[in-house]
Order: sequence, then C-alpha cells, then structure tokens
Amino acid sequence: MSSDKYILGISAFYHDAAAAIIKNGEIIAAAQEERFTRVKHDPRFPVNAINYCLEEAFIEADDLEAVVFYDHPLLTWDRIVKNCAMIGEESYPTFNSALKSVLGIKLWVEEYTTKAIGTLGKTGKIIFAGHHMSHAASSFYPSPFEEAAILSLDGVGEWSTTTLGYGKGSDIKVLKEINYPHSLGLLYSAFTYYCGFKVNSGEYKLMGLAPYGKPTYVKEIYDHLIDVKADGSFRLNTDYFGYLKGDKTTNAKFHELFKGEPRKPESKITRKEMDLAASIQVVTEEIMIKIARHIRELTGSKNLCLSGGVALNCVANGKLEAQKIFDNIWIQPAAGDAGGALGAAFVALHLYFKESRAPRTGNKDSQHGTYLGPAFSEAEIGAFLDRHEYPYTKFESDADQHTLLAKELDSGKILGFFSGRMEFGPRSLGGRSIIGDARKTDMQSKMNLKIKYRESFRPFAPAVLAEDVSAYFKLDTESPYMLLVAPVKENLRTNVNSEEQLKENNDDMLGVINQARSTIPAVTHVDFSARIQTVHLDTNKRFYELLTAFKALTGSGVLVNTSFNVRGEPIVCTPKDAYQCFMRTEIDILVLENFVLFKPLQPKIDNDENWKQQYELD
Ligand SMILES: [Fe+2]
Repeated sequence: MSSDKYILGISAFYHDAAAAIIKNGEIIAAAQEERFTRVKHDPRFPVNAINYCLEEAFIEADDLEAVVFYDHPLLTWDRIVKNCAMIGEESYPTFNSALKSVLGIKLWVEEYTTKAIGTLGKTGKIIFAGHHMSHAASSFYPSPFEEAAILSLDGVGEWSTTTLGYGKGSDIKVLKEINYPHSLGLLYSAFTYYCGFKVNSGEYKLMGLAPYGKPTYVKEIYDHLIDVKADGSFRLNTDYFGYLKGDKTTNAKFHELFKGEPRKPESKITRKEMDLAASIQVVTEEIMIKIARHIRELTGSKNLCLSGGVALNCVANGKLEAQKIFDNIWIQPAAGDAGGALGAAFVALHLYFKESRAPRTGNKDSQHGTYLGPAFSEAEIGAFLDRHEYPYTKFESDADQHTLLAKELDSGKILGFFSGRMEFGPRSLGGRSIIGDARKTDMQSKMNLKIKYRESFRPFAPAVLAEDVSAYFKLDTESPYMLLVAPVKENLRTNVNSEEQLKENNDDMLGVINQARSTIPAVTHVDFSARIQTVHLDTNKRFYELLTAFKALTGSGVLVNTSFNVRGEPIVCTPKDAYQCFMRTEIDILVLENFVLFKPLQPKIDNDENWKQQYELD
C-alpha cells in the first residue's frame, strides 16, 4: 500500500469555487470550477475541478487521506446570526439569503462530497480548515520562505477580514485579527459598487481607473468612513455601509457624502469616479503599508507572504514592494477564495496531520508558475483537429514554429496562445493567453474592440523575459504572476501629458488611452505604469522561447498578454474552447502547442451573434 498522502482541498458556495490536490506537500493540481462549466465565477460545488484533480493525481477517490473545506460554515453562521440579532428586523433579507447559503448549502459539504466522489477520504469526515487559515496557508506553504510574516487581506471570511500571522517551518501562528464588519476588502468593494462596477470582479477595473483621477476624496474617506491607527488597524464607520442590513455595500448616507446616487453600470465614467478610484486606491495603499510595517516589527521577519482578495490589488502590491519594508514578498497568485482550496489542503497536512514541511532551498516557490490546470497532449489536440477537419500546420521543430510566429507578431498579427497547463488564479500567464506586439500603437484598441468586444480604459499587461525586466521597467524583482505594477522606464517614455490630454478630451478616457506613451504603448497606462509578468524558462518553455525569438527578430522583448476569452467568458480551458474563441473573434492565428491554425484557412462558422448573450457582462 502506498504511503503517499493525497489531500483534496475544496472551496465553494461563495464565489470562485475550486479544487486542489497535494501529494506529500507537493502541489499536483488546482483549478477553478468556472473553467469547466464555462460559467464565470461559478460558486457551485466544484465536481468537475475535483474530478480533474483526482485524474491528474492518477488516484481513486478512496486513496484520499482527507478532504478539506476552506471555510468553517459554523463560524460563518455564528457571525451572521450575531450580526442579525444586533440589527434586528432590517437584517431579514440578509438573514434569509444567509440561511440558504450557509445552512442550506455549507453544512451539506459532506453530502455534496459523498455524492460527487463517494467518500470523505480516509478520515471519514470533512476537515474544516478555516477561511483565513486557508488564505494564510495558501501564501506561506508554497512560498520560497522557511519563515515569513503572513498577511491576509480580505472582504470577509467567517469573522475575520484581516489576519496577521507568522509562519515557520510547518507551523503558522495567527498573531492578530481584525474582525467583521471592519474590512478593507468591503471598503474597496463599496467604492467598486458606487462607481458602477460589479462587486467581486469590478475591483480590478476600479484599480485601473485610479491613474486617471486625483485623490481628492482621501480626506472625506478618513474623516467619515474609516479610522486608521498608526499600526494600520482600522475601524469602519458602519453608518455609511449597506452590507450589515442588506445586500448593497453602500447606503443613503454614503451617497449623501459623495453627493449622488451610484453610477449606473455601463454609463459614462466621469471625473468623479476617476477621483473616487484614485482616492480609495491611495487609502488602500496607505493602510497596507502601515500594516506591513507593523507586521514587520511584530515578526522581525524579512519575508512577507500575502493573500486574500485585496492582495490582487497589484498597484498596491507594487507600492509595497517599492517601500522595501521586506526584502522579499511572495503573493499567492490565486489570492482570492479559489486559492483557499489549495491553502485548505496544506492546513490539513501541516496543522491537522502535523506533517513537517520540506525545508526550502534556493529562492523558488513550489507553485510551479501556477500552471496547475489541465494540459492537452499532441495526440489529443491532433485528434480534435482531425475529427473536425480544421486545417493546421504541425511543427516538428519548435525553433521553426517560433521563428514563424515571431514574424507574424511583428507584422501585427494577434495570436491565441495555448501552451501547457492552464493557470490557477485569475490571470493568464502564457498558458491560455492572447498575445500581440506591444510596440504597435493600434494594438490596444484592436484587441479591445475586435477580440474582447469591449471598450476599455485599461491597457493590457506586458509579458517580458525575466532577465529583461529591469531594461523596460523600474522593477528589480521577478513578477511571474502579474501581481506587481511598476513604472515603465523614463528613457522609453514619450512626452505625453495625460492630465492635459484628459482636459482637452473632456475627461473622455477612451479618447486618451490610445495615445502612445512609450515605445511599448499597448502596455503603458496613463501614469506610465504597467502590470508586469516576467516569463521564465523553467515554468513556461514555449512562451519563453517565443519571446526570445521575437526579441531576436525585433529587438523588443515585450509582448502584450491578455486572457484568452471574450468579455464575461471564463478563460478557455480545452482546445475546443480555444478554437471557439478563435473563430468568434478576430484573433488571426491559433497556436495549440505545436499546431498552428491560420484564420483564413478555417471553414466558415455560423455567424450567429447570439453566443454573446451567453456571457453576462463582467
Ligand atoms: Fe476570502
């Protein structure tokens, strides 16, 4: 009998359900359910992701040592009941929906699991890891650090919204917590909602909007909404928020403070939203930096591990990095609740079973570039293409393929790029990406309008060879997970005054976004910042070699990298998803490993536009 310890972690029922599996502490697989069901942010019990994880680990469900859930339903239930008791009748809508989501579903995790895989593992029961412990574990255990300060910044999970901890070897200790309703994540979400974006996904847009504005509302925020102490601990003034009593994040008093009703989704974005975005961004950064200083003192550690939804704020992460409070920062790429599945598995291994953690060597993490999802073999892709008689060129030589693709990119072609295992976490990192030449001034609008079917005030992200990052950006560290924002270097910038441009264009962001701000305009934001991904040979060879070939041909080592999907669609998972996205958009060339498909050679598809209705606006 094998002594290998396989542990399955699950997150579900709130948003972004996911499953992850580890074997003796090594990450074997992790994936979000949305990629299989094609429903964005799918919160349902992740049957497909679980089955994928078992398949990838090459085991039967009976081989599982344990099944671990990322949350503690009873603690969450406790918070909701106490909250509702405090507020009384007005909280009934919250109470009713919570009744459904917590009692109706969360307590049935065991039943769902048994139904899905016929077992609860060798322990015979589900282990509940705890929300913040799962987040903390997801950032510490896979990190390259033997010991580290651990900071989890979230909306809410059970009671805690912010957790300060310390990890050493196989142990994690929680040092301090800030509890609901005081939450940095919920504060940011309140502004997301007020500015007309979707809570739990539009936060990224609000962050992208901030560089257009001025932080003119910072004083109002500090005077009325949040009280922050020198150590970064904070309290929200709950009079201004709607989430205690209903399902909205803001309330009438909040609207009064900022003089107006929330912006209607999809309506014109005005100067006010830009300034609000800039203001809440500044406040978030200031609090994060204060907490970081405090936890540095508290733990004495030079290393920081970050997780929780707020850790996806890569602008704030970039500011934190630049402060050099810590020598090293590692951020879990699936920082939101999906990553909780991975963390939960580690909690069981190290804190429940008390297994020791292998000593860290070198500075590599054990996240495998976060390429933890399904991959497809040459035989599988070939069989798929042949079955449908889709014309392709199959390359026996990678070098020949890269040379051809580099030329196509240089001539302005846009590639759907499908290589190796799918990414775990919200960002595309060259496993399932759409890529183009970052030097082209029209690349940004072309990608937005012809592929994403949206207009956007946000530029795309650059993918750069790891060793070249300092040649293009003011960054001297790796950013393999696109979680750090840093400025484009001065010598690459063009003389553009965004402030004046905005004024001339009556604050119309879409009018100014396409102006070239640097020699890599498609990835340069209005404040000259860029959301960087460093590309590494050891984790994504095909992408790395393509970038190298492109640089050899053009002298430029930067490509635009955006997620392989259309607006509102989950990122593609299979060759079939990729082909469908390729044919529905104006992507010129589809790369499926060593197969290359050219658009003009493909059979015509039914030009039925109804498919766009399938995806909800994000
Ligand atoms: Fe969370």
